[in-house]
Amino acid sequence: MIISAEGLTKTFTTRGRKGAKTVEAVRGVDLEVKKGEIFGVLGPNGAGKTTTIRMLATLITPDAGKATIAGHDLRKDPAAIRRELGYVSQAGGVEDTVTPRQQITMAAKIHAVADPAAATTAMLERFDLSEIADRPGRTLSGGQKRRVAIALGLVHGPPLLFLDEPTTGLDPQNRANLWDHIKTLREQGTSVLLSTHYLDEADALCDRLVIVDHGLVVAEGTPSELKREVSGDVVSLRVDDLDLASRTLAPLARDTRIDDDVLRVYVDDGEHTLPSLLRALEEQHLPLNSISLERATLDDVFLAKTGRSLRDTGAAA
Ligand SMILES: Nc1ncnc2c1ncn2[C@@H]1O[C@H](COP(=O)(O)OP(=O)(O)O)[C@@H](O)[C@H]1O
Ligand SMILES: [Mg+2]
Repeated sequence: MIISAEGLTKTFTTRGRKGAKTVEAVRGVDLEVKKGEIFGVLGPNGAGKTTTIRMLATLITPDAGKATIAGHDLRKDPAAIRRELGYVSQAGGVEDTVTPRQQITMAAKIHAVADPAAATTAMLERFDLSEIADRPGRTLSGGQKRRVAIALGLVHGPPLLFLDEPTTGLDPQNRANLWDHIKTLREQGTSVLLSTHYLDEADALCDRLVIVDHGLVVAEGTPSELKREVSGDVVSLRVDDLDLASRTLAPLARDTRIDDDVLRVYVDDGEHTLPSLLRALEEQHLPLNSISLERATLDDVFLAKTGRSLRDTGAAA
């Protein structure tokens, strides 16, 4: 394990006009990250992802709990941990007036890298930044800025990289490009802890993940384990009387759930259950408006564990 954390807890107190307010941002998070894997923390906004990562990155002190990171104790030896990790914050620090080359060189010097100029060139090449290496930061696109931010976190060659919501706000093309870079990190042996509120990102990138909600881990496993746990397949159907349809199909399914104007029916084996579902609806004279069969997604896992859809929490799918 490159990270093992137990019972991490953090409460913030803020003073406003109405007096002190406390927010239990993280309420006891356990996680174990294996060497060389991409580990995800998936959850909606406000779930406690950034706070968890900041605690593990030694940027804030947990109120309770313990962790060992790259062999060092979080409380006893934060300085040793800092040497072993790269941290890329959610906002990503790219200066407007400084060029990528200057910024990366500066970071290399701060980390006492043996040959800062060579390390910088290597990073610029690796992240496809050579062509824009000498342009001021403000002229870079969102995707380029994210790549500079990651290069800044990696220039000293840490075995462990923390990426807090690396692709938030990027367009699909830049997102896919960044995913490729993150996968390459794994191929080169870097362990990655990343947070995201995108279901498809967690699914596509993570070897294993935890799903967090309101400061707690609600599920843990590989994407396919988690999906299997919920159910094999989901039959989504639109009918006029969703409640009657739900009552009719419940005995034939593992679970049913009404999600807006769609009834979602969780079954083990969609292909074989479908005919009996259709027959039952017909017997109740419930005409179908539409029907589709899908594999369970991580959103179904979130829904099963929290009773809400991650899409409804304001996080895009
Ligand atoms: N420095 C802080 N002071 C007060 N409240 C905070 C602070 N940082 C985070 N919070 C609160 O803690 C909760 C979790 O925040 P955060 O860890 O940023 O969640 P996420 O990254 O999953 O969106 C939120 O309710 C947020 O408003
Ligand atoms: Mg965050």
